[in-house]
Amino acid sequence: MLTYDIVIVGAGGGGLYAALETSRKKGLKVAVISKVYPTRSHTGAAQGGINAALGNVAPDSPEKHAYDTVKGSDFLADQDAVELMCEMAPKIIREMEHMGLPFSRLENGKIAQRPFGGASFPRTCYAADKTGHVMLQTLYEQCIRFGVHFLNEWFVLSLVHNGERMAGLTALNLRNGKVEGIRAKAVILATGGHARIYWNRTSNALGNTGDGVAMALRAGVGLKDMEFVQFHPTGLRRSGILVTEGARGEGGYLINSKGERFMERYAPEKLELAPRDLVSRAIETEIMEGRGFKDEEGNEFVYLDLRHLGRKKIIERLPQIRELAIDFEGIDPIKEPIPVRPTAHYSMGGIDADKFGRTEIKGLYAVGECACISVHGANRLGGNSLLDIVVFGKIAGEDASESVGEWELLPFKESLVKEEEERIKSLFDGEGKENLAELRNQLSDAMSKGVGIFREEKGIKEAIEKVEEIRERAQKLKVYDRSSVFNTNLQQTLEFLNMVEVARTIAFGALERKESRGAHFRKDFPKRDDEKFLKHSVIKRREDGELSISWKPVVITKFKPEERKY
Ligand code: FUM
Repeated sequence: MLTYDIVIVGAGGGGLYAALETSRKKGLKVAVISKVYPTRSHTGAAQGGINAALGNVAPDSPEKHAYDTVKGSDFLADQDAVELMCEMAPKIIREMEHMGLPFSRLENGKIAQRPFGGASFPRTCYAADKTGHVMLQTLYEQCIRFGVHFLNEWFVLSLVHNGERMAGLTALNLRNGKVEGIRAKAVILATGGHARIYWNRTSNALGNTGDGVAMALRAGVGLKDMEFVQFHPTGLRRSGILVTEGARGEGGYLINSKGERFMERYAPEKLELAPRDLVSRAIETEIMEGRGFKDEEGNEFVYLDLRHLGRKKIIERLPQIRELAIDFEGIDPIKEPIPVRPTAHYSMGGIDADKFGRTEIKGLYAVGECACISVHGANRLGGNSLLDIVVFGKIAGEDASESVGEWELLPFKESLVKEEEERIKSLFDGEGKENLAELRNQLSDAMSKGVGIFREEKGIKEAIEKVEEIRERAQKLKVYDRSSVFNTNLQQTLEFLNMVEVARTIAFGALERKESRGAHFRKDFPKRDDEKFLKHSVIKRREDGELSISWKPVVITKFKPEERKY
């Protein structure tokens, strides 16, 4: 059986930073296991930048960064974790600068910083509009340099533990179709988010199917604040592909069908650079109240206008946005405004983890978007995601490297591998009465309708009912392609089963949180209710498969909850 000290699942920024940290400790046997080739991880889709209080454009401090983050989170973030992240931000930016990450520069040679939503100062460091892409390349190069061992194109199936400590995992080698057990003293989950649940309108990569979150749920680990899903205000009208907040940071603005710059009514001070929850609701309200646009295919949208920025600035700072708009909308933003609508973008909720990335099972860590540490609370600020993954990837890597020395490898029952083989076999032998693409569309529609930007009891209950029906019907899925080499039919079926499990928890949490906070807006409870709900939800799966919920206090250090005004 393959055996390591530490296995890191996922090769985005969080997984790679954890790998770098563990590779610094001599003598440890570490592997990164990933279902995609590392440089194709979703971190590469992050466009606009990474926040750090460098103060290169205006005086700034980690404390102000922490305050903006907590306010942006609608006061649900754990403030000790936020302070740690914001303190570490300048150091980790310099660390990556020294690795060779090609940040955009100011005239004076310092790292450039642009304004982003909910931030008091231009704080977002960037590399044009390809920040995540260059970060991924840089970290991967460093991992190669330090000899990190990669198991690329493996799909992790289950976590193995004895109730208290990790023993390893089971995984499917996508290259040959074999299921294998992998022993490890520690496992760091860095598997990314799950916004692909909203399949038909999301900025997420096809692979963001919540595999790590679903595995943790099946392993009995609690999921925190799952009801909070972020909708990014500006996705391209048809595909939902991201149009970076950097476009508004550079001065782009939103207009409705009356030609109004409507954000003046919703956030008079911050306008388009209010936090995402607010801007997304504003756009949807304009559309619902008849002030949006509608095309001949029935798509509704508003416009993001960049024309006044001029050709030079657009080409220099937003080259990818221009390419995407031309390729996917046939529109050149230098000459025409871009049709946009909110798109499912980010999962604030995830595996319940502390500020070292530790979960309730010793040796199991979770970092990045699959985790809820929680630094984003009810609404994440743009530019804090790339920061979160590298900071907590580093911290968890460090913590795991120090801890594994004291731990023995646990026994690993071969029968667990057989169980997973049987599970896969049953998919090949399925009844075949259901169609995967159709079920995926139905899941997306049910979640967008009932647990989207606006929610209320009736709609959430309908979504829950529909998700349960889909879950039942998913038992009748069949994998028709029986090949063992890169069987995408099998992989997509496994991913879908994970999405259904995660979708259930989102809807369940949304029903239980009877207030509006950040990205969770209940039309039937439109106010924030600190008395009853200034707390984290934690959802678990019981032995009988039903979900249970409990609540955990929010860590408050120095920022007292106040009304959010922008
Ligand atoms: O808008 C963006 O560039 C996305 C950044 C983020 O989600 O942090």
